[in-house]
Amino acid sequence: MGLVRTLRSVASFAVPTVSRHKRQIERAANISDLRAIAKRRLPHGIFDYIDGGAEDEITMRRNSAAFQQYEFMPRVLRNVSGIDTSTTFLGRTLESPIIFSPTGFTRIAHSQGELSVARVAAAHGLPYCLSTLSTRSIEEVAAVSTGPKWFQVYVWRDRALVKDMLARAQANGYEAIMLTVDTAVLGRRERDVRRGFTLPPKLGPGTIIDGITHPAWTWDFIRHEPITFSNITDPNGGPTNTAVSLSYYISEQFDPALSWDDLAWFRSHWNGPIILKGVQSVADAVLAQQHGIDAIAISNHGGRQLDSAPAPLDLLAPITQATNGSLPLICDGGIRRGSDIVKAIALGASVCTMGRSYLYGLGAGGEAGVEQALTMLTTDLERTMSLCGTRTLAEITPELLAHVPVGRQ
Ligand SMILES: Cc1cc2nc3c(=O)[nH]c(=O)nc-3n(C[C@H](O)[C@H](O)[C@H](O)COP(=O)(O)O)c2cc1C
Repeated sequence: MGLVRTLRSVASFAVPTVSRHKRQIERAANISDLRAIAKRRLPHGIFDYIDGGAEDEITMRRNSAAFQQYEFMPRVLRNVSGIDTSTTFLGRTLESPIIFSPTGFTRIAHSQGELSVARVAAAHGLPYCLSTLSTRSIEEVAAVSTGPKWFQVYVWRDRALVKDMLARAQANGYEAIMLTVDTAVLGRRERDVRRGFTLPPKLGPGTIIDGITHPAWTWDFIRHEPITFSNITDPNGGPTNTAVSLSYYISEQFDPALSWDDLAWFRSHWNGPIILKGVQSVADAVLAQQHGIDAIAISNHGGRQLDSAPAPLDLLAPITQATNGSLPLICDGGIRRGSDIVKAIALGASVCTMGRSYLYGLGAGGEAGVEQALTMLTTDLERTMSLCGTRTLAEITPELLAHVPVGRQ
């Protein structure tokens, strides 16, 4: 009796979680753990489509590695009770400087796909950007989300199709568009080439074996309606349910002639903020500002387009300087921790966007995994701010960072 009382005073017993999978998700300590679970759960071809980058994946690796170039110069005794991570972006107050980047074909990670991501974003009042190449439509996402929604635009050769999508987005309460400008042609994603990856995934001996060895994903996949490009209802928009390689689809459908002159067309068909996504140079950031663009996402598409493109983090300071700090900047690429967000803000970002971080969560555990990915980033962000002695985002300034000396990186 005495022993039990003593044990009780030092230990409280956790209620065991019944499902092994649920237990794994709950125990994931960081985004890298969610990635490892997603890797086990998803067929190889699908995991590689999400995880991979272009060519030698130099840019993809650099996007994350760039954050390690900096260390913090923390301040102490600063009263960090009541950390405030809120910010205002494009007229909206956000509880955290985190936005969900658009990802095409999200339902291949989990049947709920875009709906799950939109629901999590809405529950936290954070913007979710729906991809043109989404597998749930503009209307389906609007039906589950009262939160801020943006629409990402790829420009079809057939402008009537683009005009129609813009009108649908506007009618359904989407607040801003992200015009992706880094995809004149598709980057060469060599993992997809090797695996013969198509959208929707094509059934062949390889994919069948891949499916059998990943039964949880396969069971989820076959119980739900087929995956299609839900926004493309017009037959001129290309095949929506025939298996094609993404590079074939894009080279057939997207307009490689897109130029700065086309921005006026978007202004006349979109009543709201326009964000250019995929700016990768100081010169183009300045041009965007001159063209009256509302914000830019410094992005190389997560290293999936031009390999050896610069890491977004490295462009923040020079772009902030060249645009006099008056153009709202989004840092997109490589965000895996809250400390990455603090570093990006110190270098001039207003907000950060994440792609793979939430996709790993979705692939690992559906909606609960997306929620967990976001929680990891937000709690990390608050802890890092506390430990750095910064109570608000405004207190995160360039003086908080120093370059890690060469040789120690
Ligand atoms: C699987 C996948 C699909 C993507 N699809 C799109 C897309 O349809 N449109 C787009 O503008 N960007 C797309 N992106 C790029 C993301 O919006 C974002 O720029 C990138 O994921 C950021 O890098 P991160 O994954 O390191 O966070 C995609 C990225 C991934 C990983």
